[in-house]
Amino acid sequence: MTGWYENDDFWKETIPVMFGPQAWDDAPQQAKSILERVGMEPSVQVLDLPCGVGRHSLAFAYMGCQVTGVDRTSLYLDEALRRTQEAGLNIEFVQADMREFVRPESYDLAINLFTSFGYFEDQADDMKVLANFYRSLRPGGVLVMDMMGKENLARIFRPRDWRELEDGTLVLEEREVTRNWTWMENRWILIKGGQRRDFSLSHRLYSAAELARLLELAGFEQIDFFGDLAGAPYHYSAQRLVAVARRCSVGDDLR
Ligand SMILES: C[S@@+](CC[C@H](N)C(=O)[O-])C[C@H]1O[C@@H](n2cnc3c(N)ncnc32)[C@H](O)[C@@H]1O
Repeated sequence: MTGWYENDDFWKETIPVMFGPQAWDDAPQQAKSILERVGMEPSVQVLDLPCGVGRHSLAFAYMGCQVTGVDRTSLYLDEALRRTQEAGLNIEFVQADMREFVRPESYDLAINLFTSFGYFEDQADDMKVLANFYRSLRPGGVLVMDMMGKENLARIFRPRDWRELEDGTLVLEEREVTRNWTWMENRWILIKGGQRRDFSLSHRLYSAAELARLLELAGFEQIDFFGDLAGAPYHYSAQRLVAVARRCSVGDDLR
């Protein structure tokens, strides 16, 4: 059975919904905030997985980082490469599934942003993704994850919403929390020029405590949570669930 996230048509048709001008404008500041938060220089090696159309890969590369962007969607990788070449930057893009991609001890920083986690029916696959991140980081390396957390959602939940994009596309969203608050089901209806497209997407919901448990199982230590990428506290008004988790340095585990 293939998951909704393996539908190329979904990713193609929803580019303007997910990666509009605002999303691109936000990325450089987010990348800067991440480097400040983890206390790294803009010369580090960064794994952006999944990288999508390359918003953050480009932002990190602009700052001087060596970046590998990984994603399953070839259309997105083509777009990311086009923008990279246009900007005169040098970024490595790899087409791979996040359940498979591992490059042992190759990166100082790994990022998983914009609710790019929890897509798989079997939670063992989520675990695999975290274990891959752990293995791909050098000792002392840091993973930064950003998603819509269970606590955020409980506070702002709206079963239905609609908005209009700059190009006139109407985006209608219907949401349902299912499976005893472990799962989120979304229906997106896109209407443009009299044409209507329907898509379904869904993902596992994590609270900070649940995500911390999984990160610990994958081997991570010093796990901190924030309410956004700028470092707001993870309290009742948090906008996002941001996890910062460290792979311990050689020797730390001998203490
Ligand atoms: C919401 S987008 C976020 C992209 C990027 N992190 C950003 O902030 O712009 C989620 C991305 O996950 C990718 N994706 C979905 N399933 C995947 C998988 N199994 N392995 C690798 N990438 C996947 C999609 O192609 C898409 O680019």
